[in-house]
Amino acid sequence: MKIIFATNNRNKLEEVRHALGSEYELLTPRELGIVEEIPEEHDTIEANALQKARYVYGRTGLDCFADDTGLEVAALGGAPGVYSARYAGAGCSAADNVAKLLAALDGVGDRRAQFRTVIALILDGHEYLFEGRVMGEITLVTAGDEGFGYDPVFRPEGRQETLAQMSMSEKNAISHRGQAVRGLAEFLIARACVIRPIG
Ligand code: IMP
Repeated sequence: MKIIFATNNRNKLEEVRHALGSEYELLTPRELGIVEEIPEEHDTIEANALQKARYVYGRTGLDCFADDTGLEVAALGGAPGVYSARYAGAGCSAADNVAKLLAALDGVGDRRAQFRTVIALILDGHEYLFEGRVMGEITLVTAGDEGFGYDPVFRPEGRQETLAQMSMSEKNAISHRGQAVRGLAEFLIARACVIRPIG
């Protein structure tokens, strides 16, 4: 099945390709001539995922999905949350975001956090949302070179290593995005078995 993943983030694309498996051919906005940045201007993860999917659907008329992710830190009242990408300011790097987060938690004992991903799917003009979460804590220092974003400072519950110390398969097995993608895949598979809607 061919479907558009409305992202120009190569790390996400690789993770989702890996999680969905070879039955799905993922097309990117860039491959369809959408080279501009896809807007995400809302203040919830759900609304941003929907905005990105609607934008690409509006431009192509093809089935597509988009994801949006936030890191929610308990001691920071859920921040950076929906603002995770630009936590350290517009145009900042992942390293800037991580440095700001570690500074904000300097001396803070409660380091509980969760990653939350919402995937918005538009299929035959209908919209669906899927969610995945992983609980964990923010480490005192960075560890690992795999993954991206905040992975070097996020240690999932019950694990000794950060997400950046895991292979892509290990990360996908437990991660927020891995869970949301499995929900999406199960839905697509179940839907492929439907002969036709009744009534
Ligand atoms: P967005 O979903 O592209 O808006 O991502 C929001 C922010 O969270 C960006 O700074 C990403 O780098 C970061 N982020 C998204 N997914 C992950 C992940 O799986 N691990 C670590 N950071 C992530």
